[in-house]
Amino acid sequence: MLLEIEDGIAWVTLNRPEKRNAINPGIVYAMREIMAQVETDDRCKVMVLTGAGEAFCAGMDLKEYFRETDNDPVERARLVRANGDWQWRHLRVFSKPTIAMVNGWCFGGAFTPLISCDLAIASQDAVFGLSEINWGIIPAGVVSRAVAAVVREREAMYYIMTGDKFDGRRAAEIGLVNEAVPAEQLRERTVELARKLMDKNPTVLKQAKIAHRIASEMSWEQGADYLMAKSDQSLLHDAERGRDTGMSQFLDEKSFRPGLGAYRRDTSL
Ligand code: ACO
Repeated sequence: MLLEIEDGIAWVTLNRPEKRNAINPGIVYAMREIMAQVETDDRCKVMVLTGAGEAFCAGMDLKEYFRETDNDPVERARLVRANGDWQWRHLRVFSKPTIAMVNGWCFGGAFTPLISCDLAIASQDAVFGLSEINWGIIPAGVVSRAVAAVVREREAMYYIMTGDKFDGRRAAEIGLVNEAVPAEQLRERTVELARKLMDKNPTVLKQAKIAHRIASEMSWEQGADYLMAKSDQSLLHDAERGRDTGMSQFLDEKSFRPGLGAYRRDTSL
């Protein structure tokens, strides 16, 4: 695993290029540590998850994650728990914005962290696949559930049942990633998006993304109650007093329009 911090971005790189960054126990346990580190390091404003070499991630390691624990239910259970901890329990509600930068191969179990990141940008020629059916298993862990959260139903069923691969452009069409760009623009576009997120009020951004995650699985009544409480919590925690500032700049100073851009932040607060 690699962690590089540069201009507010924590670049977290799955780093087993010789194994196409397949997720083995080493990656599972290292990711839990790295995410805890990124979350508490003030230099990190946005986390980008990517892969070394020609792969984003070739899914779970068939040898080290599956075969070598097939006869060790205790270690398997420990591993499944730890893997779920980083891939979705923590990542879906990570307190900082997250972007998956899909640079190449992306299969099976890799869909969970991909979908758990808030945003995703792929290289147009990255290759994706729900390849589980091709080797006799179902998209488990929590892959099918994750896919259902972002991909349209017909396409989800098609790729789950056929195991066909598809490229970055198609991934954008079906909602799996936000956009696909030529490979040579992938990093630049990711940095551009990260910068846009860094300009926002971080407290409100954190509350907004977590609120959406949680509310999307509630009834409307529960959602309304939860979101109003969350909104109050956001105001309480916002040291920048963004709401007051924004309102005053719009209504009193008439110096900006919320529909056209963000208020001028006072980051000294
Ligand atoms: N688990 C274990 N080892 C893997 C995995 C994996 N998921 N993916 C690649 N590797 C290993 C290969 O066994 C090979 O090891 P070796 O050098 O010791 O022989 C090495 O990585 C390179 O892989 P190649 O297949 O030689 O690389 P190539 O570039 O030709 O193909 C590709 C890349 C298409 C990603 C291919 O490796 C592949 O199909 N991998 C499996 C993808 C997959 O279906 N993942 C599992 C999804 S299901 C799940 O995650 C629950």
